[in-house]
Amino acid sequence: MTPLVFAQTPDATEAEFDKFRAEMEDFNPAELFETKGEALWRSQRGPKNVALAESCDLGQGVGVVKGAYAAMPRYFADADAVMDAERRIVWCMVEKQGFKFEDIAAHPFQSLNENNAPDITNLVTHVAANSRGMAIAVPLRDPQVRRAYELGREIAMYRAGSYEFACNTCHGVDGKRIRLQNLHNFNTDGGAIKAVQGWPGYRMTGGVMLTHQWRLNDCFRQLRFPEPKYASELITDLLTYIIGNANGRIYNGPGIKR
Ligand code: HEC
Repeated sequence: MTPLVFAQTPDATEAEFDKFRAEMEDFNPAELFETKGEALWRSQRGPKNVALAESCDLGQGVGVVKGAYAAMPRYFADADAVMDAERRIVWCMVEKQGFKFEDIAAHPFQSLNENNAPDITNLVTHVAANSRGMAIAVPLRDPQVRRAYELGREIAMYRAGSYEFACNTCHGVDGKRIRLQNLHNFNTDGGAIKAVQGWPGYRMTGGVMLTHQWRLNDCFRQLRFPEPKYASELITDLLTYIIGNANGRIYNGPGIKR
């Protein structure tokens, strides 16, 4: 399909990709990871032998996953921090189940040719799947969340690294593409939902399941920026900005990527 794509106008190409993606989503391998994540969510695990289903509050009440992903990042008083879904689940694994942060952070993302995704990825996928079809509702009126959003906007504009690029160099204009990949302007709601709904996402190249946090980290790497610490505040700020811009749009993930 690739050579054909060059001959088409960008709009036709995008429509073609959308069609392809829609077809693939009918048998999305992400479901495998959702199922594993659900089992993990319900099992008693960790040094404290506690289930996340009976201890972890994602903002909708202890154990409730329905709608939680679409309403994060949000502020959590118990942690006194704004957290995106992945950061919050990691927090619960550490605080409620007794896992060590360093152990989770040592291998947070699935690598190419690795058969299984890390537990955290499966958990994020399960939680995300329970917001499918729901409207994104990041609580931007909350002053703490608002602050994270404003910081995220500043980070997206900040130029650094050996190329003097900012996130917005690539993601701040409409209709930009790199190597046949459409870059969505995540400063607009229509662009932002496209940068949100495919995550977590199954990547056909490599056969791996990856989270939104991974995607951001990978862009930092491409930018030759120092890579942020896993589950850091900086990533939450950027996610608050990007996901917050998609407020009101319907979340259709977990997704599938080429
Ligand atoms: C040099 C260009 C470039 C820069 C600068 C860049 N990215 Fe990206 N970004 C990409 C490419 C290429 C993709 C992959 C698009 C795809 O897979 O269709 C991508 C994908 C993404 C996605 C997922 C979009 C989607 O459609 O699923 C997000 C979110 C994202 N980048 C965030 C960021 C953030 C945050 C920064 C700044 C830290 C940043 N990017 C900087 C090139 C860039």
